[in-house]
Amino acid sequence: MNAKRSVGILATGSYTPDRVLTNFDLEKMVDTSDEWIVSRTGIRERRISSSEQASSDLAFEAAKRALEKANISAEQLDMIIVATVTPDMMFPSTACILQEKLGAKRAAALDVSAACTGFLYGITTATQFITTGMYKYVLVVGVETLSKITNYKDRNTCVLFGDGAGAALIGEVNEGFGFQSFELGADGSGGPLLCQPAGGSRIPASSESVENNLHYLSMAGGEVFKFAVRVMNSATEAVLTKAGITKEEIDLLVPHQANKRIIDAAVQRFGLSEEKVAINLDRYGNMSSASIPVALDEAVQAGRVKEGDHIVLVGFGGGLTWGASLLKWSTTPVEGSEQ
Ligand code: ACO
Repeated sequence: MNAKRSVGILATGSYTPDRVLTNFDLEKMVDTSDEWIVSRTGIRERRISSSEQASSDLAFEAAKRALEKANISAEQLDMIIVATVTPDMMFPSTACILQEKLGAKRAAALDVSAACTGFLYGITTATQFITTGMYKYVLVVGVETLSKITNYKDRNTCVLFGDGAGAALIGEVNEGFGFQSFELGADGSGGPLLCQPAGGSRIPASSESVENNLHYLSMAGGEVFKFAVRVMNSATEAVLTKAGITKEEIDLLVPHQANKRIIDAAVQRFGLSEEKVAINLDRYGNMSSASIPVALDEAVQAGRVKEGDHIVLVGFGGGLTWGASLLKWSTTPVEGSEQ
């Protein structure tokens, strides 16, 4: 077993539902304005899944696109990791449901629960299985249907979130390329700041929990904002240091898309120009675990990513959790590996 395999992203794919909910639509639903939402968050519109669409349906579309791009069949997958806080149901895992939809018969399947940091926890986990040689191909999907747990009568939260899915096929790449460093963290003391109180074993779903709106996402926005600015900077610094890369060598920053002001703080701190930052929250809002992989896929599709580029993925979310990774981009599978 080769213990020094280089591991990277072989292909990406994404999917967002067709229905668009604009700030002007929200003006008719709650006491808010396009001006307030744009100036405080940078968000202009978001996508909303249909009543028939669950998270696994969005994940399936994104996964198919990533597999097609890599020219890999679902049967070749060794493992599927789905990062989500909006699973189809409490169990079985959304990864198992996706495994069945894809026909990925050989693949082990599990969900990761790390809220908006879920995709970073997922790719870090996937990398360990490939580095050790245990697995060859692991599919990681960040997917959310946050509209299903959002209270559209609460202006503090309903303007922020949207639905979508982003997928990445993780596999071995040529030596020196791929993931150079990871940073993951958690602070469980901040759990109550961002949570869905009911529906689990603490407050099982009941007519009372629904009457009290406890099945909806709840957030202490201001507290999360301060935490976000702090950990976006510290996690980015940590992966740069671990990889021995300076901030001037960053070619693209792909941050979690929660609030433009949080991203601007990181951009200022690292002295990045606009073309070095992937931003899509104006069109999608905060898609939690899907934000980073969708933004990355769009950057790849737009030709903004070249072989050898240094890419920083960085995010934070409920838990509280945070994470980052520095990637030397290459989608070329390792020489001699059949596809
Ligand atoms: N429209 C109009 N007014 C609003 C709205 C709205 N949609 N929402 C809140 N307000 C009001 C508030 O009620 C408040 O009024 P008050 O002063 O009379 O009480 C005023 O605007 C200011 O509220 P603040 O909370 O101070 O606004 P702030 O500038 O902090 O922006 C926001 C709020 C956008 C929520 C911000 O705090 C934020 O982005 N926080 C981070 C959220 C985040 O990153 N979540 C990520 C994780 S999500 C996950 O893991 C699933």
